[in-house]
Amino acid sequence: MDDTEFKILLDWWNYSWGGYRKVRRGVKKRISRHMQDLNCLDIDAYLELLNTRISVKEECEKRMTVSISRFFRDKKLWQGLEQEILPDLVGKAKDSIKVWSAGCARGEEVDSFKIIWDRLKATHKSFPKLEITATDMNPDYVEMAKSGRYSVSSLKEVPEDIRSTYFEKKKGGKRFDIKRSLKAEINWQLKHLFDGPPDSGFHLIFLRNNLLTYYQKPLKKEVLIKILAGLRINGWLIIGSHEKIPGDTQGLSRHETIPWAYKKKVQVLKQVGFKTL
Ligand SMILES: C[S@@+](CC[C@H](N)C(=O)[O-])C[C@H]1O[C@@H](n2cnc3c(N)ncnc32)[C@H](O)[C@@H]1O
Repeated sequence: MDDTEFKILLDWWNYSWGGYRKVRRGVKKRISRHMQDLNCLDIDAYLELLNTRISVKEECEKRMTVSISRFFRDKKLWQGLEQEILPDLVGKAKDSIKVWSAGCARGEEVDSFKIIWDRLKATHKSFPKLEITATDMNPDYVEMAKSGRYSVSSLKEVPEDIRSTYFEKKKGGKRFDIKRSLKAEINWQLKHLFDGPPDSGFHLIFLRNNLLTYYQKPLKKEVLIKILAGLRINGWLIIGSHEKIPGDTQGLSRHETIPWAYKKKVQVLKQVGFKTL
């Protein structure tokens, strides 16, 4: 598959060329194999099947997903969450804090959160309950995330004290298993971001390195509005460090020192006239 064909496929899905720039070799390989399995000689034949066979469309979409992640990806964000955002949320919380990891991949994001939650909890006498939901559209990733088994590369930014407290070395150090207690009470769901939030009233939504990276702009806006409906007023939307909120963002205000965290200021966000407060 050459770049022209790949671009045609990206357009068919409303995916962005820029978003797939760094990962396109691997994705193209997976798609080429799919085309071969289906005896598609060119992109037109493949598009024909995408248009007519739902199973082909589903398999293609799965192959287009990218699961690259690691613990504490964007270190400064996690420091800011542990030192500023979470203590503030916890201080104001009544009974529970609701968190959604949207596009959780193999689980590094949701487990990073569970680690900082556990550390904070240890320093407080009373602490709210955590209701955490992790969703992804790729069932293979969700199964891996549930297992809590990680490769060495996922842990490359994990400090030694956290590694020894929360992980168990397996296979002579080739694999690290997270403490089972951290996996308790995570609500896993298979869910497409286009279908909106799995619940409402979230205090914190992690939307990192998926919608805002891989999709084209008009779609980003439309889906973002849906997702933000799940966030409560004064709740935080967390995006990836290389990502931007599309357009002018009305109703969201950026954290002063954590530029990837946006606080929701009004309940209903409209697509038109999005502006930064
Ligand atoms: C690169 S990983 C990011 C993982 C994690 N959020 C992080 O930042 O480290 C992107 C994940 O988003 C998921 N994803 C992409 N588009 C999605 C969609 N439309 N609906 C649900 N999940 C999606 C992919 O399956 C993949 O697991």
